Amino acid sequence: MSLKIALLPGDGIGPEVLAQAVKCLEAVEETFNQHFIFKEAPVGAIAIDKKGKPLPDATLKLCKESDAVLFGAIGDPKYDNDPEAKVRPEQGLLQLRKELGLFANIRPILSHPTLLDKSPLKKKVVNGTDFVIYRELTGGIYFGEKKLNEEGTKASDLCEYTEEEISRIAHLAFKAAKGRKKKLTLIDKANVLESSRLWRKVVAKIGESYPEITLDFMFVDNAAMQIILNPKQFDVILTENMFGDIISDEGSVIGGSIGLLASASVGEENALFEPIHGSYPQAKGKDIANPIASILSAAMLLEHFGLMEEAWAVKKAVDKSLKKGIVTPDLKANSQYGTNQVGDFIAHNIVDIEDDFLMNGENIDLGKSTII
Ligand code: IPM
Ligand code: MG
Repeated sequence: MSLKIALLPGDGIGPEVLAQAVKCLEAVEETFNQHFIFKEAPVGAIAIDKKGKPLPDATLKLCKESDAVLFGAIGDPKYDNDPEAKVRPEQGLLQLRKELGLFANIRPILSHPTLLDKSPLKKKVVNGTDFVIYRELTGGIYFGEKKLNEEGTKASDLCEYTEEEISRIAHLAFKAAKGRKKKLTLIDKANVLESSRLWRKVVAKIGESYPEITLDFMFVDNAAMQIILNPKQFDVILTENMFGDIISDEGSVIGGSIGLLASASVGEENALFEPIHGSYPQAKGKDIANPIASILSAAMLLEHFGLMEEAWAVKKAVDKSLKKGIVTPDLKANSQYGTNQVGDFIAHNIVDIEDDFLMNGENIDLGKSTII
C-alpha cells in the first residue's frame, strides 16, 4: 500500500516525538514492504513565527491532498499568558479539524500491566481498564459564536449542536461498542444544558437500532468522579467536544503517563493522528519527552488503513520497550534512555510476527480496533 502522510510537527516536543513515529513507520515500510510518502509542513506557534498564521494555506492544502496527517503538538507559553493575543497556535489545530471535517476524536484509555504502579490510583482500581472515548470534535462550545463586549467586561461562547452532528458520531461510537464490550455511556449535563438534552434524545433514538448495546447516561460531574473511582465500568464513552477534552486528560492518569496516549481524529474523507498530550515546552530539545503516544498514534494510522498486522507489530514493539524498561524518565525516574533511544529501540523491534498476530484472537476480531 502506498500512503501520502502529511507530517505536522508543530511546537515544543512535537518535532522530537513525531520523528520517532516516523522512524517506526519507516521500519514498517521496510519490514512489511509498504510505501509511505512523507511531506512536512508548519503549524502552530512556529507557523505564526514563520508565516504569520497558525495554519498556513500551504499546510492546509498539503493535509487535504494527503491520505492522513500525523501531528506532533501545539502551543507555546508566550501565547498562553497573553489574554490579549489575537492569534493563537491552538487556532491552527482547531481550524485544521474543522477544515478537514474531523468530527470524531477517538481516545483509547488503557492500563498497561507493567505500569500499574505509575498510576497515582490504586493498582486494583486501574488494573484491567480498557475504554475508549468518542469525543465530538468540530462542534459545541469550541466552535459556537464567541462574543466580547466593547468594554471587554462581558464575554460568551455559544454551545450549539445539531441532530446531524450528534448522530454521525453516535453511529461510530455504537459501531465501536459492537466490537468491544457492548456498552456505551453518553456523558452529558442534561440536568442543566439544552444541548445535552438534545444529545440524550438523539442518542437514545439511535440506540434503538443497536439493541445489542447497553446504553447508559451519566452526568459529566459524576463521570469525572466515576472515571477515577471505577474506570473498569466503562467501555465506549460518547461525549461532546469540551467534556471530551476534559475527561480524556483525566483518563490519561489511569495509564500512568499522558505520554502514552494516542488519538485518531476522523471524518468522512480525512484522518489525523496525534498524541493527546500538549507541547510540553519545558522539555523541548532535552530529549526526555516520551515518544510512545506519538508512536501509538502512528499505529492507529496503520489500523485506520486496515494495516492490522503492521499496527500490531508497532504495539508489540512498544510493549517490549515498556517490559524491558527502555523508557523515558516520566516512566522510570533517572532513566538513562532519551526520546531518541526509545524511538530507536521501538523501531528496531518492529518485526513481522504473523503467527503471533494470528494467534491473538483479539486481533482476528478486527472489530476490536478503535478505528472504524
Ligand atoms: C486536545 C487539546 C486541544 C483541545 C487544544 C490544544 C486546542 O487540548 O486536543 O485535547 O482543546 O481540543
Ligand atoms: Mg485537551
